[in-house]
Amino acid sequence: MIYETHTHFDDKAFDDDRDEAIKRAMEAGVCRFVNVGASMEGSYASVELAHKYPGFSAAIGVHPEYTSKLSEEDMKAVKKLSEDDAVTAIGEIGLDYYWDEPDRAVQKEWFARQIALARELKLPIIVHSRDAAKDTLDIIKSEKAADVGGVIHCFSYGIEIAQQFADMGFFIGIGGVVTFKNGRKLKEVAKALPIESILTETDSPYLAPVPKRGKRNSSEYLPYIIEEIATIKGLTTEETERITFENAVRLFGK
Ligand code: NI
Repeated sequence: MIYETHTHFDDKAFDDDRDEAIKRAMEAGVCRFVNVGASMEGSYASVELAHKYPGFSAAIGVHPEYTSKLSEEDMKAVKKLSEDDAVTAIGEIGLDYYWDEPDRAVQKEWFARQIALARELKLPIIVHSRDAAKDTLDIIKSEKAADVGGVIHCFSYGIEIAQQFADMGFFIGIGGVVTFKNGRKLKEVAKALPIESILTETDSPYLAPVPKRGKRNSSEYLPYIIEEIATIKGLTTEETERITFENAVRLFGK
């Protein structure tokens, strides 16, 4: 039983074979999926998928990349959409300083605003954070995001930062990068953290694990990620699946 905590099956990369790709993931042992919205459109699509496929739930929210045109009306729409039972989290939200756009002040404002909404709705958050560790930590603290908890998905920082998030009760999302030859930093994080702080994810269609690196990623490749985590932590794959599954249920409530 594998829990996929971060996938984007609404992505156009799956337009030709969505049903088959999801079926293959289920055959590979994945039985729960959080389909994560990145835009308003993606949030609506995630809820639709969650109604269509068994074992699916939806995260709704707007990724930092798409915050420049966000409005209070959109926040009202997210709030309204959250009334749907399929919704288990607010995300993905956060900060991405890899690119110069949108302006950092804009990203920070909407990150804080969406954390406030998550607290109001008592839903955990799924956080995207790239090249922005300090500001992410600062906003998570100042907005009291630990009240609802969440996951720092596709974790890309070192052990010290991972520990600070884990100390606040946040989970660390580990995906395909942990299987990469040049994924040493993430391997070290996986080794240092207790397995109780780790969630498994693919972020598909992006970042396929070895031996599928470079191809379209899909949840059916999660066993490669689990195997690597198990090896790093000296656990069996069954133990790794079971504990990370329980972690995800603890966070998402189902
Ligand atoms: Ni994502």
